[in-house]
Amino acid sequence: MYIGLDLGTSAMKALLVDDEERLVASATIPVATNHLQQGWAEQHPLVWIEAAKRALAKIRQAAPGDYSKARAIGLSGQMHSLVVLDRTKAAIRPAILWNDVRGDEWCRKVVADHPDVSAITGVRPMPSFTAAKLAWLRENEAKAFSEIAHILLPKDFVRLWLTGELATDACDAGGTQLFHQEKRRWSRDVCSILGIDEAVLAPVLDGSEIAGYLRPAVAAELGLDKIAVICGGGDAATSSLGAGCAAAGRSMLSLGTGAVYLTMQDRFRPASSDSVHNFAHSLPGRWYHMAALLNCGSALEWICAVTGGQAPAEALGELERQAASPSPGPSPVMFLPYLDGNRTPHCDAGVRGGFFGLERATSKTDLVQAVIEGITFALADADQVLLDSGNTIGAPILIGGGAKSLYWTRLIATVFQRPLKRVVAAETGSALGATRLAMIGLNKADPDAVATEPPTETVEPDSRLVSAYQDRLAVFRQMYSSADLYARAGGGAR
Ligand code: XUL
Repeated sequence: MYIGLDLGTSAMKALLVDDEERLVASATIPVATNHLQQGWAEQHPLVWIEAAKRALAKIRQAAPGDYSKARAIGLSGQMHSLVVLDRTKAAIRPAILWNDVRGDEWCRKVVADHPDVSAITGVRPMPSFTAAKLAWLRENEAKAFSEIAHILLPKDFVRLWLTGELATDACDAGGTQLFHQEKRRWSRDVCSILGIDEAVLAPVLDGSEIAGYLRPAVAAELGLDKIAVICGGGDAATSSLGAGCAAAGRSMLSLGTGAVYLTMQDRFRPASSDSVHNFAHSLPGRWYHMAALLNCGSALEWICAVTGGQAPAEALGELERQAASPSPGPSPVMFLPYLDGNRTPHCDAGVRGGFFGLERATSKTDLVQAVIEGITFALADADQVLLDSGNTIGAPILIGGGAKSLYWTRLIATVFQRPLKRVVAAETGSALGATRLAMIGLNKADPDAVATEPPTETVEPDSRLVSAYQDRLAVFRQMYSSADLYARAGGGAR
């Protein structure tokens, strides 16, 4: 038996699987985000611990016998979010999350003054990454900054509670913009630009390494033996493992609050665009090229909330029924989904979203459809930069909440003009990837043998709609420049 704990942006998930990877129990505990201002997002690390306790209590309750036989806990977590600890290893302030863009000014300065940072850290400085959040803290909360004795990523804080040990993995280290991706060690140069002492950064372990054992008091509280806690990984790496994409050349598209689209590499290979994240993977000797969208499910949730509170799954169901009608096709409205800015391909935290083509007859369904289509066009941009970086992407594996919708999956295939493989009726994603890291680490197993592809269904493009959507994609690609112009003129600011 293995336990996976995955700290997502919107929930903590616990998974209990047996040695054959059969799902024994799972539990999801929501975690709220505080948006104190536009572009800000925070969660207190202690809330994560409470959520972990509740998620573990639920799987214990569901399968007490199996739970007590767990041999190891694997971890996964949202990447980039900054956790700062004082000398006593207590959180100094709430974590500043990956989708918080307040550090944009520092990024612009670093792009201008230190052009080599992009090549060292594998991606253009952007406020999503941890370094920009530290820079903001240094400028705006000097007292908190001066108290920093340790910096961790979210899943590392969970491990600290479980074991008392400080550590991180190469994927989460890679997402900080403080890491030398090719050499797989902290970058002294970038630390000095930021004015931080390398000593505050945690040792970097392999994702499948045993990072410690449950502290006796925690083991007693959780009803577990003093079992091994595996280092774990940032959720890009763990979701690739959960989706069966461990080997070079395999590709995965995950539709969550944001979206990540990655393709595995067996060496550090510069990408053609510095908006592609060229990052170290949790597994040694592996890297990945990744395109990231800040708004995916979050944009769908937003439109559902402002148009009367329909659940996103229900809205997708409605579109599915409508798509079965004789004259389906693009919504009359178009949408630019950059509610929180854009990471790939524009590296622009300041741009905002917009609708185009509204008229009196526009319905709520037109708007929801336009939002799904806008996210899909943004995914097509991501696909393009990955292809332009020399990656051959056949049919990527689609996982995450959005993959549950056949309508959306087919739309993506239609816009990409390629089939996709949608995971069906199987536990996938980062929580499973966390348990896989535990299996690899505890049994010294071959990662490629453990990270097998889950059962998938191939979804083909809808040939009737390919040309209509290509026309729309061409228009979509022109929309960014107007939105950029508007943002530069102060548009969107309250
Ligand atoms: C990856 C990314 C998100 C977060 C949240 O670069 O920003 O996927 O890890 O899950």
